[in-house]
Formats: sequence, C-alpha cells, structure tokens
Amino acid sequence: MTEPNTTPISPKVKRPLVLLTGATGYIGSRLLPLVEQRNVRVRCLARTPDKLRPQAAESTEIAEGDVLDRHSLDAALTGVTTAYYLVHLMASSSDFEKQDREAAENFRAAAKKARVQRIIYLGGLGEEADPKLSAHLRSRHKVGKILRASGVETVEFRASVVIGNGSLSFDLIRSLTNRLPVMICPRWLATPTQPIAVADVLDYLLKALDLPAGESQVFEIGSSDVVTYGQLIREYARQRKLRRWLFSVPLLTPYLSSLWLGLVTPATAEVGRHLIEGLRNPTIVRDKKALDVFSIRPVGYRQAIEQALNESYKEGAG
Ligand SMILES: NC(=O)c1ccc[n+]([C@@H]2O[C@H](COP(=O)([O-])OP(=O)(O)OC[C@H]3O[C@@H](n4cnc5c(N)ncnc54)[C@H](OP(=O)(O)O)[C@@H]3O)[C@@H](O)[C@H]2O)c1
Repeated sequence: MTEPNTTPISPKVKRPLVLLTGATGYIGSRLLPLVEQRNVRVRCLARTPDKLRPQAAESTEIAEGDVLDRHSLDAALTGVTTAYYLVHLMASSSDFEKQDREAAENFRAAAKKARVQRIIYLGGLGEEADPKLSAHLRSRHKVGKILRASGVETVEFRASVVIGNGSLSFDLIRSLTNRLPVMICPRWLATPTQPIAVADVLDYLLKALDLPAGESQVFEIGSSDVVTYGQLIREYARQRKLRRWLFSVPLLTPYLSSLWLGLVTPATAEVGRHLIEGLRNPTIVRDKKALDVFSIRPVGYRQAIEQALNESYKEGAG
C-alpha cells in the first residue's frame, strides 16, 4: 500500500505552484479552500476572474483564461508543478464532445510545454467498451486519454454521481424527487451506480497532490454501496419524509424522459439531457486499486445523502 507522502516542505524550498481550473464550478469551488490550506502557492484559471475573486484567498493568483484558448493556457501554466483539470464543456455547445477534446488537447500541449509534473483530473465511471456509453461519459474518458498522452503524469479519478448540495447530477435526483410525487421513469430506474459523497471526492483530489511521482494512473472511486437510481431516489425521499411512487415504463426513451426532466430540474435542458442519457449506463467501480493506494474509505450512500441534506439546510436550499 502506497501512503501519500505528507512530509512538510522546508520554508527555504520554493513552494510548489498548483493550478486549479474549474474553480468556479461545483467541485473546484469546494477544492479551492482546501488547496489553499496546503503549503503550496495557488493559481486559478478562470474565464471570469471577478466571479471567483470573492471566494479566493488574497494570496491566490487568478489567471484569466479559457481552456479553448491555447495562448491563455500557456500563460496560466507557466511555473506550475501540479494542475487540476476540473472542467467540462457540456453547457457551452451542442458539440461538447468536440470542444471537450479541443480543450483537453490545448491543456495537454500547454502542460507539456510548461513541464508540469502532474495533472489531476476528475472524470466519470462507465464501461469503456460499452458501445452504448453516453456521449457525456465517452467524452470524460476521452479527455483522460488525451491528458495521459501528454507524457505528463496524469492521475485520473473516475466517479459516478457526486452526492452533495449543488452537484449537477445529485441536483437532478433531488429536483425530481422534490417535485414529483409520482414518477414515470424509463428503465434507468434499475441501472446500478456507485455514488460518492463530495467530501470523499475532495479527499481523493487533495491526497493526489502527495502521491509519489510515477506513472499515469486511473482510479475508479465510489462508496461501498452499489445502488440503483431508484434506490437513490427512494432513500432521498425517505430522509426528506416525502412519499413517492415510482413506476418503470420501459418504452420511455432517455430522450423523451430528458424532455420532461427538463421541466422539473434546474440544470439547463442541454446539460440535463447529456446527464440523463448517461443514466442508462452502469457506473460501477470495477478496479478497486484506489482502496489500496489511498487510506480513504468513502461513506455509504445513505450517509452521503444525509451529509448533502445537512449542507443544504445550512445553505438554505431544500
Ligand atoms: N458533479 C458531479 O456529480 C460529477 C461526477 C463525476 C465527475 N465529475 C467531474 O468533475 C469535474 C468538475 O465538474 P463540476 O460538477 O464541478 O462541474 P461544474 O460545476 O459544471 O463546473 C464546470 C467548471 O468548468 C469551467 N469551464 C467551463 N468551460 C470552460 C472553459 N471554456 N474554460 C475554462 N473553464 C471552463 C466552469 O467555469 P465558468 O464559471 O467560467 O463557467 C466551471 O468552473 C468534471 O470533469 C466532471 O465531469 C463531476
């Protein structure tokens, strides 16, 4: 078992520079304060620096840039030791796969040029060989492959639903359950998934900073519970004390269900549709290597939902 090296860095040694992309997003915004507490210098890449400034520590640099603009990446990656890639382009274009690819290629080239030592990326679970893999999950895998091809050591984590207040995929489940007492759902109600609490995802992302240098690796991460989306919905309803009836209708296609889901969920129709298409794909941890390499033991889905609800009560969401 390889425990991360947490030896403190001598003050005489120049502290490593960590670049965070996606710092305005769900995962990135939660990771930012945790990275800021480490003995490192922090730089964020943001399309709209003003949006990020209030959330960032004074010492954190903000580089204005866009992953689709290679030139801005060259500047942002200069001097960087470790770079987090926490970006997806589902919201920006209907051809998000092409844009995801372009963005990853830009990042790969700039990281290589800047001699970055490690890229840490959070992607998605799902069977690589599944011909019916949704475009979203396929694109997440492709991005990992492109980053690895940089020759820069890439640590890729693959997760399914990240359970937390504000997480796109969890919000989809929450809005559905909050708003619809009776749900007519397609087959995806029975699709198995292995969700993970956001706190555990952040723990993995942070500990990846301390891994000893080595080869690129892919870590599949999830709680110990394999559940169906139906079970997730029922458990959420149970904890919220909501009475819900779920009916499975095999003929309702993911496309049709995305249309009605669009009416009840806060995600934009475009993003919601891409996520929903992925609900038909099992997202299960097959390779359990993460449990050997890290000492993290993710909480089960019930506790993860409880944590998300507590967080949402604190933040005034419901
Ligand atoms: N949430 C989940 O349940 C979940 C599950 C598994 C994996 N993941 C993975 O985790 C990563 C982060 O996801 P998230 O949930 O945090 O997503 P998110 O909340 O939608 O945030 C996306 C981030 O990407 C940034 N971005 C988008 N287009 C950009 C561009 N052209 N240039 C620079 N930045 C750009 C956004 O910045 P702006 O503020 O400028 O738009 C935002 O900070 C993704 O790789 C995702 O696949 C998430």
